[in-house]
Amino acid sequence: MDNEQIVLLSSREIEKMRQAGRVAAELLNYLEPMVKPGVSTLELNDAAEAWTQARGYKSAPLGYPSGSDNPFPKSICTSVNEVVCHGIPNAKQILRDGDIINIDVTPLVEGYHGDTSRTFLVGEASPLARKLVEVTQECLMRGIAAVKPGGKIGDIGAAIQEYAESQGFSVVRDFVGHGVSRIFHTAPQIPHYGTRGKGKKLRPGMVFTIEPMINEGTYEVEVLADQWTAVTKDRKLSAQFEHTIAITPSGVEILTLQPALVGATQ
Ligand code: MF3
Ligand code: CO
Ligand code: CO
Repeated sequence: MDNEQIVLLSSREIEKMRQAGRVAAELLNYLEPMVKPGVSTLELNDAAEAWTQARGYKSAPLGYPSGSDNPFPKSICTSVNEVVCHGIPNAKQILRDGDIINIDVTPLVEGYHGDTSRTFLVGEASPLARKLVEVTQECLMRGIAAVKPGGKIGDIGAAIQEYAESQGFSVVRDFVGHGVSRIFHTAPQIPHYGTRGKGKKLRPGMVFTIEPMINEGTYEVEVLADQWTAVTKDRKLSAQFEHTIAITPSGVEILTLQPALVGATQ
């Protein structure tokens, strides 16, 4: 994916991505109140699929990538506690008080992908879990703040890594942000660690995700036998937040921001 050309989107295409991003953020808003002790990750999946279908859209994760021997079998990723990413919803997995869960959604809206995730606390989370989730969200926002037309891709990872490590946590290396538009995963790759001033130049019209996975312990991950579920090697906690962003001539636009809660009709 990284030797592909980085495609710059036209303002018409960015408008389509804005629409897809808004749908993705609304879907997470819809799921959030269901995240309670006792709910299964399959119930969250099925609610997401129904919401998406009711609007005439598709869930891009379902059956992705097409043509693979082992495509992702569900509509959203649900990554609980030590699961770093790509957790598969399951009827037997019931959320318990104190868990943390990342929900990652990617509705396909009129041919364009809106890719976003948040980590939610289930009931009363421990102070450590809370801190990890807060730091991870701040990592995403600092990564976004580092995006400037004319800057470099390395600026993003440097900002994230510096903050995560200053808080005593580690940055996952094995999964990165990615270009996204009509294609779910394309160039450029966006590492969440790295060196300021290094990497390709950031240009207006680039659209990509930033999606740091931040671990309590080691950054090393393992993929389970299902060939999707990525877990921390030490089985300590991992959290993640993701936005899809567009670089504009003057800065950056977050395409998957939560729609304003006041006066919103959802
Ligand atoms: N939404 C994930 C991402 O942020 C990708 C999930 S691919 C799937 O890139 F196949 F696991 F759904
Ligand atoms: Co993504
Ligand atoms: Co995602």
